[in-house]
Amino acid sequence: MENEIEQVALRAARAAGRIHLKRLSRITVNRKSNSIDLVTEADRESEAAIIELIHRAFPTHAILAEESGASAHQSDHRWIIDPLDGTTNFAHGYPQFCVSIAYERRGRVEFGVVFDPLRKEFFIAQRGHGARLNGKPIRVSTMPSLGASLLSTGFPYDRREHVDFYLGFLADFVARAQGVRRNGSAALDLCYVACGRLDAFWEWKLHPWDTAAGALIVREAQGTVSDFRGATFDLFGEQTLASNGALHPEMVRVLTTRLDANGGTTRRTP
Ligand code: IPD
Ligand code: CA
Ligand code: CA
Repeated sequence: MENEIEQVALRAARAAGRIHLKRLSRITVNRKSNSIDLVTEADRESEAAIIELIHRAFPTHAILAEESGASAHQSDHRWIIDPLDGTTNFAHGYPQFCVSIAYERRGRVEFGVVFDPLRKEFFIAQRGHGARLNGKPIRVSTMPSLGASLLSTGFPYDRREHVDFYLGFLADFVARAQGVRRNGSAALDLCYVACGRLDAFWEWKLHPWDTAAGALIVREAQGTVSDFRGATFDLFGEQTLASNGALHPEMVRVLTTRLDANGGTTRRTP
């Protein structure tokens, strides 16, 4: 079945990528939770195509997908899907978006694929078998110092209500790193940590579909994923920190200091 999982995931990712490219030149945008949380026809159409391909191959598997939510039935097998990660970029024609598909067995992510259809880059990982970019094994960077590092972050859809809160974390790293990027696709940010284009990435309030595949890809590329204090990463938690491992203690130190300054022991956003 392992092989079949990979084949179906890749087929679904390719189908989603084709829809993204087809839709890119004629985009219709709608709003979701607020005026900056967008959804396009490409999100919905690619999600439907992915789910159809998965159901055709595995009719009993459960689904957790960004646009249509969780399937009603329980199963040991679950697919976690972000049909289009980087929708704001996509809606503006800014070339940084992807599809992210993860397969989970009994609550543990076993396989993940992130596909960037513009660059034709397939990032995949199978638990225990390493991570690959277009078939070639990838590894995180060996960057040892925060001062020479390139980082990335993102801001959740409640950013307008908590501008200063999120900017505090950004300021800490702008003051310490060589550069900080805001690329607009968390799944690709994670893959870029995995292949050494970035040295670390942090973001508040990501969802399981943003991180399920990417976190496995980072780990299989020998990187580290945790919450901001260095504790076990929770797919349903509020904090994502991914790094090359070497930078992890320093990233955790900076983030912990900021969390403590923000309100003692609280782990949460306001
Ligand atoms: C978003 C992107 C973005 C991140 C947001 C996510 P979406 O996903 O990953 O980089 O900053 O927090 O919600 O809405 O484009 O699928
Ligand atoms: Ca997303
Ligand atoms: Ca999305």
